[in-house]
Amino acid sequence: MMEQNRPNGTLRHLLTLEGMPKTQIEALLTRARKFVRPIGEAPVHTHSLAGITVANLFTEPSTRTRVSFELAAKRLGADVVNLEVQLSSRVKGESMLDTIYTLEACHVDVFVIRDAETGVHELVASHVKPHASVLSAGEAHVAHPTQGLLDALTILQAKDRFDGLKVAIVGDVRHSRVARSAWHALTTLGVAEIRIVAPRALMPPAGEFAGCERFNSLDTGITGVDVIMMLRIQKERMETAAIPDADRYFQKFGLSAERLAKAKPDAIVMHPQPMNRGIEIASDVADGPQSVIKDQVRNGVAVRMAVLEAVIEGRGP
Ligand code: CP
Repeated sequence: MMEQNRPNGTLRHLLTLEGMPKTQIEALLTRARKFVRPIGEAPVHTHSLAGITVANLFTEPSTRTRVSFELAAKRLGADVVNLEVQLSSRVKGESMLDTIYTLEACHVDVFVIRDAETGVHELVASHVKPHASVLSAGEAHVAHPTQGLLDALTILQAKDRFDGLKVAIVGDVRHSRVARSAWHALTTLGVAEIRIVAPRALMPPAGEFAGCERFNSLDTGITGVDVIMMLRIQKERMETAAIPDADRYFQKFGLSAERLAKAKPDAIVMHPQPMNRGIEIASDVADGPQSVIKDQVRNGVAVRMAVLEAVIEGRGP
C-alpha cells in the first residue's frame, strides 16, 4: 500500500481509508463539519483553493461523487476541469499516464479519479509531480474513501458518538467499495459491532471484513442495531446473475418498514445511492423519518471540501 502522507505528515493523496490513523480521520471529519449547512441555507464559499486547478476524471458513471467534487472545488475557489473520458483522446488509445501528463502541463494540481480497474489510482499517484495530489472517487470494488468519510460524518451527526454503536451493512457487500471504506473508517473510529448481512452469493470472501459477524438473514442481522447501511445490487460487477429476481430479493433482503422495526426505534437508515427502490429498499423507508440518505449527499460536498482543503493546505506556502 502506498504512502498517502507527505514526509511532514500531512495528507497528500487519498486512495484508501485502510490504515489511516484515527486522528487523521477525526481531523477530516472536524474540518468537514465546518462546511455543513442545512439544506435551504446558502453553502459555504471560501478562497482557500484560489489558484489551484482540480481535474475530475471519471471512467465509470457517477452523479453524487462527480457533482460534489466539482461543487466542493468551486466553493473553495478552485478552477475545475471535468474530462469527459469517453470524448477524450483515451478512446484513441492515449494512456492514462499520458492523459495525466497532459493535464499536468495545463497546471492541474489535484486529480480526482474514478476507475473500474484496481491499481489505476496508485499508478497515477506514483507518477504525478511532487506538488500534485490524487484523490480516489471510487476504485473498482476496493475503495471509496470520501464515501467512507461522509458515511462516518452522517453517523456522527445522528448519534453523536461511534463507541458502543451496532452497525449492519446490508446487501451486495461482495462488490461494494462503499462497504469496504465504511468498514475501515468505522472500525478505526471505534464502532463496537459491525455486522455483514448478505445472501451467500453476495458475501465478501472469507478473510475480508475481519471481526464482523456474518448473517444470511436480514431479520436477524438488523435486530437491535443503531445504523442500517443498505447497499446497491451491483449487477455491473457480477460475472453471472448472483441474485434471484428482484421480487424474491426484496422478499428476503429488501428493507421494508415492517423489517426496520426490528432495529432500535431510533435506528438510522443509510444508502450511498443510486438506489434500486423496491429491490433493496422500500420507497417509504428510503423517504421516511429514519432515513438520513439526503444528509449523506449533503455531507458528501462538505467532506470533499475538507479533503481538498487538507491536501492543498498540507503543501505549505
Ligand atoms: N455514492 C456514489 O458514489 O454515488 P455516485 O455513483 O452517483 O457517485
